[in-house]
Amino acid sequence: MSKKDTRKAVDAYFDDKLHISDETTQAILHKNEEEGLQSIEVASAHGKMLYLMAKMSGAKTILEIGTHGGYSTVWLARALPEDGRLATFEAKQRHARVAEENIAAAGFADRVEIFEGDATKTLRVLKKRGFETFDFIFIDANKDNYPEYLEWALELSRSGTVIVADNVVRKGRIIEEDTDKKNIPHLRKFIDLLSGDDRIEATAIQTVGDKGYDGFLMAMVK
Ligand code: DHB
Ligand code: MG
Repeated sequence: MSKKDTRKAVDAYFDDKLHISDETTQAILHKNEEEGLQSIEVASAHGKMLYLMAKMSGAKTILEIGTHGGYSTVWLARALPEDGRLATFEAKQRHARVAEENIAAAGFADRVEIFEGDATKTLRVLKKRGFETFDFIFIDANKDNYPEYLEWALELSRSGTVIVADNVVRKGRIIEEDTDKKNIPHLRKFIDLLSGDDRIEATAIQTVGDKGYDGFLMAMVK
């Protein structure tokens, strides 16, 4: 088996043994594909990781920047208690509509609010909508805006807020200093901002598997 095939098979092995995917999460992936959305959802193992992390942190309020078709949204919403709330931001109207259907079909329409439009413009409405700070924040939208999303995440945090960001490794390109390759300078600025900010403690995890080679940034506000 090639290395790539082995990695996919290991994902499938854990998916089966640890009962990761179920009808609801599979239906979302199916619908996203049917609607022509790019297959850039987090891997099922990582969806469950996000769910577990949110649950471990006891999150009652979750912010997600980058809804896509609502796949990670549903994983995260599953971690919420009945009176919990999740605010999710999606730039594309078509994606937001697909996500709305997926979230409703999963039974979370009452706990999840989708905000449509460029998050760098729309995040400011949160305070007006009764959201003060969040317990758990997942950043997974336009990589070029990660530096700005980090500023918002800190603005909307309290001591103990967990912040997770997807796609911080990008096949290893994150270490390329002089590249102008799409996204990388912005992702590097995001890391530099974290590096110089003593309000937050962070680490990064490289991942392989179903979705190729990438990684997560995980942090907690002091
Ligand atoms: C890609 C992957 C992601 O997880 C994402 O959030 C955006 C883009 C990609 O591989 O293109
Ligand atoms: Mg992503």
